[in-house]
Amino acid sequence: MSLPQRLRAQVDQFIENYPGFKQGSQDAAQRIQEAIFAQGEDGREVADVLHGKQIGHPLHPILTDITIGSWSLGVFFDFLGLLTRSRTSQKAANHLIALGTFSAVPTALAGMTDFSGIKKDAAGHAAAHGILNSVALFFFWRSMRARSRGNQLSGFYLAVLGLGIMTFAAWLGGDLVYDHKVGVNHTPEGTIADDWTAILPADQLKSNTLQRVDVDDKHPVLLYKHARKISAVSAICTHAGAPLEEGTIVKDGCVQCPWHNSVFDLRDGHVVHGPATFELPHFETRVTDGQIEIRRWRLGMDEYPIESGSDNSQNDEG
Ligand code: FES
Repeated sequence: MSLPQRLRAQVDQFIENYPGFKQGSQDAAQRIQEAIFAQGEDGREVADVLHGKQIGHPLHPILTDITIGSWSLGVFFDFLGLLTRSRTSQKAANHLIALGTFSAVPTALAGMTDFSGIKKDAAGHAAAHGILNSVALFFFWRSMRARSRGNQLSGFYLAVLGLGIMTFAAWLGGDLVYDHKVGVNHTPEGTIADDWTAILPADQLKSNTLQRVDVDDKHPVLLYKHARKISAVSAICTHAGAPLEEGTIVKDGCVQCPWHNSVFDLRDGHVVHGPATFELPHFETRVTDGQIEIRRWRLGMDEYPIESGSDNSQNDEG
């Protein structure tokens, strides 16, 4: 077994076996989500910004680049300053350590917001990642203070300590993405053909009910008929893969995910509220010869196909 594999096994063992750690992590995530929801729509909108909804991609990993980059470069210039006695290098190191420390605050907030909607099986690892980063932040903050008092060498040692802890935390963060699939798009692979595809007799679709159809037994599509219009989106939540037919209808034609409460607009699959940041693939619909047909929406088509006057109300009793 290689060293990283052994390390991963030990971390997994700690998280699984340390009394209360896993359950406590899941409870903490739940509490944070409750606190966000308690703030109503405003709380969710702030959380959406921190999740990265507006950029269609998780915000946290973008912010970590600034923090990790600044701290790493800061320690590099520290080394350079010590080797060359260059005042310019020392100043650069001080500025970079300060930049990393200040940028760690929004980075941590974005991470905590993502943590509030974490998959249960990843909560322990995410909590360990957050705790280690908090310890690293503490050392960098102490390093910054030491530097401001003119104690450059102490600042350097504290930063090296912080960098070591941060590196381990970053490795855990990578593990969350690549092993636990946190923050990645869970849309199933493969696409439905671009041509119109019949998926269900129109009289089998009830109004105002979420109905899943597995096209070719591998493409789960969620159908919803409301006000004589039929909408179709992927039935798998992009956040962590929940079956959206088990979700609830909220607002005006939106579905709320049953697992972590992301909200998607059924008309075009866009994210109304996170933690999801990736939109659902959506489809044009029509009814032909009593069959509901769909085809994948592509750029250049109408933004809201169900509003576009296609004849999908034909044979529709809704
Ligand atoms: S699976 Fe997490 S919000 Fe849907």
